[in-house]
Amino acid sequence: MYIKPLFKIRILERAFVDKFVIKGGNKLYGEISVSGAKNAAVAIIPATVLADDVCRIENLPNIKDVAVIESILTYMGAEVRRLSESVLEIDPRGIKSYNVSCVEMVANMRASYYLLGAFLGKFSKARVPMPGGCSFCDRPVDQHLKAFEVLGAECHVEEAVIELSAEKLTGGSIYFDVVSVGSTINAMLAAVKAEGLTTIENAAKEPHIVDVANMLNSMGANIKGAGTDVIKIRGVQKLHGCTYSIIPDQIEAGTYMAAVAATGGNVLIKDVIPKHLDSISAKLRDTGTVVEEYDEAVRVIREGELHRCNVKTMPHPGFPTDMQPQFVALLSTASGTSRVNESVWDDRFSYIPQLKRLGADILQQGHIAIVQGVSGLKGAPVKAPDLRAGAALVIAGLVAKGTTEIENIKYIERGYENIVDKLAAVGADIRRVTYKNTMDDEY
Ligand code: EPZ
Repeated sequence: MYIKPLFKIRILERAFVDKFVIKGGNKLYGEISVSGAKNAAVAIIPATVLADDVCRIENLPNIKDVAVIESILTYMGAEVRRLSESVLEIDPRGIKSYNVSCVEMVANMRASYYLLGAFLGKFSKARVPMPGGCSFCDRPVDQHLKAFEVLGAECHVEEAVIELSAEKLTGGSIYFDVVSVGSTINAMLAAVKAEGLTTIENAAKEPHIVDVANMLNSMGANIKGAGTDVIKIRGVQKLHGCTYSIIPDQIEAGTYMAAVAATGGNVLIKDVIPKHLDSISAKLRDTGTVVEEYDEAVRVIREGELHRCNVKTMPHPGFPTDMQPQFVALLSTASGTSRVNESVWDDRFSYIPQLKRLGADILQQGHIAIVQGVSGLKGAPVKAPDLRAGAALVIAGLVAKGTTEIENIKYIERGYENIVDKLAAVGADIRRVTYKNTMDDEY
């Protein structure tokens, strides 16, 4: 029978898929090294567009989101050289257009919104398709656009494309209605070369905000106050190249900390900044887990019973929303009832039905998950609905008796470098297997 080539390719794509297969129940012992921060990397790579020379970015995580941004810049004319797994050299001087027309690449990741700030800052114009990426709820960009307008840009949104245009960018006073990581970074990217002084009030304070500001300052920008509520940016005319090393990933570190607390064991988590982990360490201590801090490492030890605790997600320095699903997984086998309040995103509990398939007892009431600890979980086939939800399913799978198979691992691998190798090295029975997809898609 004759099959058209395109149809054939589709069959192959659907026929072979990767999944994680976890045999749970092992305690974790040993050392895990943490990679560079994803959420800093996806802003710092677009920031290189603003430079008039070569930028060398070190300690990049080797993950899909970084590869996507790398390919967008290459498509736009930058010369990108990979010097090693974690080092990129980017020469942005070949970028001549502000029209980011590679729609499919951009649709692959939410953080492509940083192209707006970077291209606006460079050309006083930008044309970027609306971002894609994780879809745990509506992800508005009104605060991003508000910042660009304060700097003098006109904003048009048409057919899922954002177009920004200014005669000249001029500093101004930006007050954010909500604390927003993306808006704060985009405002910095657009303002570094705007004439005069820009003030950002009610700014986000996450470690990666400080990292992006430090990187821009290393290119000659004049940004003060990053990491506080008020950031002041004095515009400069030119930005030069730089060599910059990205901070360790707070959420990757926190995910492994939660995994050790969940399974029990004793693991040294290396290459971290312990201060960035304060809120996570504090909550782990509430569960009876020991967290010891060293200069660039934390040791997590859990020997006794896990205790219940309440968690409320908040902007930094509060407990990070990006650790919420992992903590719900952890608390699902803690003694007693825990309340987990999600106050950053409208709906970030889409994974709860998947955790319930493993035997967790969780009731969602609006923004709150009520987690009734159970004595054990049992393995089952599940699907990762998004990145951190996928990480939560990995943690639950490590705890569950029997075999857990996790599909949709593309979401997990968007944000975690070598997660299988890192966990296997501390004793987890986890494998990535390619299988023939003959199953019904829906669980
Ligand atoms: C960043 O997303 C992170 N992504 C997210 O991590 C993280 O969950 C989030 O910050 C909060 O910490 C990246 O850094 C690439 P926000 P971002 O703007 O910037 C509202 C992960 O798992 N808001 O800080 O898109 C919004 O609805 C990802 O690694 C507006 O109302 O988040 C939310 O309620 C997922 N208008 C709150 O602000 C806007 O214009 C915080 O969002 C923008 C945001």
